[in-house]
Amino acid sequence: MCGIIGYSGNLEAEQVLISGLEQLEYRGYDSAGIARMTRDAVEITKTTGNVSALKRKLEEKATLTSHCGIGHTRWATHGGVTEENAHPHRFGKITLIHNGIIENYKKIREDYGKGTRFCSQTDTEIAAMLMDTFYDGNPEEAIWKTTAKLEGSYAFCVLFEDIPNVVYCIRKVSPLVAAYAKEGAFVASDVTALIAYTQDYFVVPEDTILVLTDEKAELHNQKGNVVKPEMLHVKWDFASAQKNGYPHYMLKEIYEQPEALQRTIAPRMKENIPDFEDDQIPDSIFESIQQVKIVACGTAMHAGLIGKVLIEKRVRIPVGVEIASEFRYADPIIDQKTLVIVISQSGETIDTLASLRLAKELGAVTIGIVNVKGSTIARESDYVFYTHAGPEIAVASTKAYTVQIAALCLLTMRLALIKKTLGRGEITRDFALLKESIECVKHALLLEPEIQKMTACLTEASDLFFIGRGIDYALSCEGSIKLKEISYIHSEAYAAGELKHGTISLITEGVPVIAIATQESVFSKMVSNIREVKARGAKVILITKESMQVEESIFDYHFTIPEIADDYTPIPAAVILQLIAYHTSVRRGLNVDQPRNLAKSVTVE
Ligand code: G6P
Repeated sequence: MCGIIGYSGNLEAEQVLISGLEQLEYRGYDSAGIARMTRDAVEITKTTGNVSALKRKLEEKATLTSHCGIGHTRWATHGGVTEENAHPHRFGKITLIHNGIIENYKKIREDYGKGTRFCSQTDTEIAAMLMDTFYDGNPEEAIWKTTAKLEGSYAFCVLFEDIPNVVYCIRKVSPLVAAYAKEGAFVASDVTALIAYTQDYFVVPEDTILVLTDEKAELHNQKGNVVKPEMLHVKWDFASAQKNGYPHYMLKEIYEQPEALQRTIAPRMKENIPDFEDDQIPDSIFESIQQVKIVACGTAMHAGLIGKVLIEKRVRIPVGVEIASEFRYADPIIDQKTLVIVISQSGETIDTLASLRLAKELGAVTIGIVNVKGSTIARESDYVFYTHAGPEIAVASTKAYTVQIAALCLLTMRLALIKKTLGRGEITRDFALLKESIECVKHALLLEPEIQKMTACLTEASDLFFIGRGIDYALSCEGSIKLKEISYIHSEAYAAGELKHGTISLITEGVPVIAIATQESVFSKMVSNIREVKARGAKVILITKESMQVEESIFDYHFTIPEIADDYTPIPAAVILQLIAYHTSVRRGLNVDQPRNLAKSVTVE
């Protein structure tokens, strides 16, 4: 969580920091602040609220010329949302920003800060105090001494009052990337903040200090030697991280799905069979696999639920889908014959990362399905399968989800080929269906005006239910989270057959039920379940395939996806659910891209 930017160069620092924070705002938006360095001072401006509030505050101040500074957008962990708790924090000669959690901050306060009056309730201010204690003119030594005492995770950018125009940075677990371009040296929580200046960047390795000056971005190890960075190149450019005329990032990202799917699927196609040679995922790793665990959080975990259905059906080996924050503490039963697939858009989610590390320790083979290139999960997985969704900025994940499903489809096919549970002919057919799902997505996007109209009936609802069976139930889970995270309407996903074991008591006159019924094998059962809720007064929004015959009496609104094999319906049907969530949120006048209390990248436990 929390977005970090640091800069030293020839541009106005305020401009670089603010535009960087705008790009990073999806990481947290409780409060924001910047510190600008001049030859003899460090000036801090911070506020509660988002980056626009910070901009307004800066406008009220006298102009200040500065070419070096740090900026932060916060997702509160220690201490409430107040101006005092906003970053940067200053203590003595130190001004710093932090992303992460210092777990032993209380002990540090007792050991080093007894009797000191702190301005905030944050763990970050304690870290600043500690660094100031250790600082006697040698910044790198102060940083090493400080981090030696800290437990937890951190990415710090530090200004030392008496060292003009230099930013020092260090990280453990929490991400930091850096770059040098003609405008100067940059550091940020992720590459979206750097892309306006360069597409070439590097990940700051742990146990190194990054030093930014207007001439370079240099890494130093603890011995003081310069370490050569491992350069990465990001394919997308600044325009891809903008709204491009859409009112919200979420809508833009919903519409980007056909291309995102194409980019993820097409490069893996060789003779109409998925091939992972370019991903450097060898077939040999699949041979001895006897079970699969899919571990992830949030939407990525919901993609895993779809993966389970696909793999179990085609490969006939058991698949468990695990919530990462549970898995890591659950003493999981896994061994060398287990394939652990971790899924993460950002590649930085702390629980998913910890689960990956645990799985490796237990000897499992690990594959990361990751969107962000060079992210920690991508680097630490034994093998990485990149999805090519491009930058996803809206907090509510959309295109990342459908490409994760596509990735799981491809992995299923290859696994089935190696395990010989499907022949080449069947896999070729499957592959064609997966490609067809892209066309179905385009069709689903055409439904937007009708969906927009329909959402008028949802805006006043206080509760809402999603029901489905099999793969449609897995998709319901995603539909429900999408709606609640951005519309703040309470919603639940239920396996349609399970509804009558309790939850149906909540279905009363006018309660909206979104029924997903795209599976031919259980269609008649779904229709019965829909009748049951309709009989109790539910307002039914039904999603089926075009060919499915439904009586008008069982629905109030009906949306269809084109004819496609049952296992591939979630990709286009997801689009309908995303549009329902999006328009409900817009109608309720909410902040679609930055829903309250949420952040895109969850790097704290
Ligand atoms: C947060 C985001 C979700 C996302 C989840 C997992 O909760 O708000 O949209 O699905 O984290 O993120 P990851 O980057 O690991 O896919």
